[in-house]
Amino acid sequence: MEDGSSDDSAAPSSTTISRHVFEDDAGESVFTISIIENMEEDYGLYVWPCSIILAEYIWQQKTRFSGANVVELGAGTSLPGLVAAKLGANVTLTDDANRVEVLDNIRRVCDLNKLNCNVIGLTWGVWDTSIFNLRSTIIIGADVLYENSAFDDLFSTVAFLLQSSPGSVFITTYHNRSGHHLIEFLMVKWGLKCEKLVDGFALMPSHKASNLSGNIQLAEIVLNCDPVKETSLVK
Ligand SMILES: C[S@@+](CC[C@H](N)C(=O)[O-])C[C@H]1O[C@@H](n2cnc3c(N)ncnc32)[C@H](O)[C@@H]1O
Repeated sequence: MEDGSSDDSAAPSSTTISRHVFEDDAGESVFTISIIENMEEDYGLYVWPCSIILAEYIWQQKTRFSGANVVELGAGTSLPGLVAAKLGANVTLTDDANRVEVLDNIRRVCDLNKLNCNVIGLTWGVWDTSIFNLRSTIIIGADVLYENSAFDDLFSTVAFLLQSSPGSVFITTYHNRSGHHLIEFLMVKWGLKCEKLVDGFALMPSHKASNLSGNIQLAEIVLNCDPVKETSLVK
C-alpha cells in the first residue's frame, strides 16, 4: 500500500514519497498514487490514516465519482481527491489559504501524478470569492474534524457548499475520540443530517487495515430537508 521510500528526484530535500496502490477484486494493481510527504513540517504534509480510508472508499465507489464535481476540504497531501481525479472526477483541492507550503505541495503532488486538479486556498468559515464559485456534487474531507475549536467553522463551510449545490453530499472520515455528541449537536445546529455511518476499518482490505490504527468512522452528511417538528408549549 505505502512504501514510504525516498525519491529525491521529484521532491525537495527532507521529504519522502509514499506510494498508494489501488487494486481490483483479484488483488491486481490498477493504479498507484504517489504522495510527497514531509514529517517535520505541517499537519497538511503527512498522509493521515483517515485519508487512506477515504481514498479506499472513493476507489470502491468508482462509478459514483466518475464525472462528479468534487471539492476536497483540508486536503493536505490530497490522496482522496487524487483518487477521485484518477476516476474521472473534476476535482478542486483546497486547504487553509494561509498555509502556502501545503498548497504548493498539493500542486507538486498533482504534477507528480500527472493529474489536472484545481488547487485553491479555502479557509473554513471564511467567505472569500473562491467559495462562491464552487459547485460540487460531492464534498470530501479526511481528518478535518480533529480540533474541536474549528468544528463550527468547518460545518459552516460544509453547510454553505451543500446549500450551493442541491443534492450534494459531504463524505468525511474522522477519529471518533469522544463519541459523536459534538458532531451530532453541530449537525443539528447547521441543518445537516448523517445519512450513512460506517466503521472505516470494515471497508478496508485486510492487508491495508493492518497498517492503520484508531477508531475511524466514515460519515455521509447531507442537508436536513425534513420539516421541523413543532412542539406546542400551550396545551
Ligand atoms: C489532520 S490534517 C488532514 C490532512 C489530510 N486531509 C489527510 O487526512 O491526510 C488537517 C488538514 O486541515 C487543514 N486545515 C486546518 N485548519 C483549517 C482551516 N481553518 N481551513 C482550511 N483547512 C484547514 C490543514 O492544513 C490540514 O491539511
